[in-house]
Amino acid sequence: MTEQRSVAIWRDGAAVAVPADEPVLTAYDQGLVRGDGVFESVAVVRGATPHLAPHLARLHRSAALLELAHPGDDVWRALVDAVLADWPADTEGLIRLLLTRGPGGDVPPTALALVSPVPEETLRQRTTGVSVVSLSLGIPADYRAQAPWLLGGAKTLSYAVNMAAYRHAHRLGADDVVLTSLEGQLLEGPTSTVAWAAGGTLHTPPTETGILPGTTVARLFEHAEAAGWPTARTRGTVEDLHAADAVWLLSGVRGAAPVHTLDGVRRGDADLTARVRELLGR
Ligand SMILES: Cc1ncc(COP(=O)(O)O)c(C=O)c1O
Repeated sequence: MTEQRSVAIWRDGAAVAVPADEPVLTAYDQGLVRGDGVFESVAVVRGATPHLAPHLARLHRSAALLELAHPGDDVWRALVDAVLADWPADTEGLIRLLLTRGPGGDVPPTALALVSPVPEETLRQRTTGVSVVSLSLGIPADYRAQAPWLLGGAKTLSYAVNMAAYRHAHRLGADDVVLTSLEGQLLEGPTSTVAWAAGGTLHTPPTETGILPGTTVARLFEHAEAAGWPTARTRGTVEDLHAADAVWLLSGVRGAAPVHTLDGVRRGDADLTARVRELLGR
């Protein structure tokens, strides 16, 4: 894989390419000081971003939830084009689109894009699968829907808790996490949506629980329905995952990572992962 990175920032009405190691933010940017901003992670496949549109729609929603001025899709598309200008078509990439509150005052929010190769480990987990531990987020499942200050459903830059959950899982010898509510309802992974197959239906938790509305699960469910595989938004528990025919962690960059171990218990995959991959187109 070619080790390659590229950065572009929106300045004076244009997408400006900047050397990857050059500083682009003031130290006073509220995205840095308070994690006050939103972002998206977009897959680059064969040099293109085939699923950019739903990510841009979610970026709009996230910005609105944080009351951040949104620069418009043309800006994001120009930034994506700028960072992909020299991107090798044979390297799967990960573009991050960042919108921060900026330094404040009259200065508009900061919009930038960066691309890097998808880590080898992420690519591997698509085929080898992942071992997962369940960890509680400690919030009632229906709380975030009535507490807008908790920013449920927004993809904010404040991912320190999500990263800490990963580190905790790694200390326990696992690869990834399924977060649960205070009452034990399934929520999501730190950077993925949980989906499972049971009773001939594909399930995922409802977004009323304050989880991020995943673009990958939306695409999978649309294609599954079209192919005659019923789908449902289900308030499941970890027990439901133990009993399921198959469980996946879904995200745009990793695709469908089958869960082979849950809380130390090996679990089977009734050969459904190939079908899920086919429906996702990768
Ligand atoms: C918390 C969280 N949930 C779910 C997802 C999956 O979203 P998507 O399928 O749009 O990549 C992500 C991915 O970034 C995430 O960070």
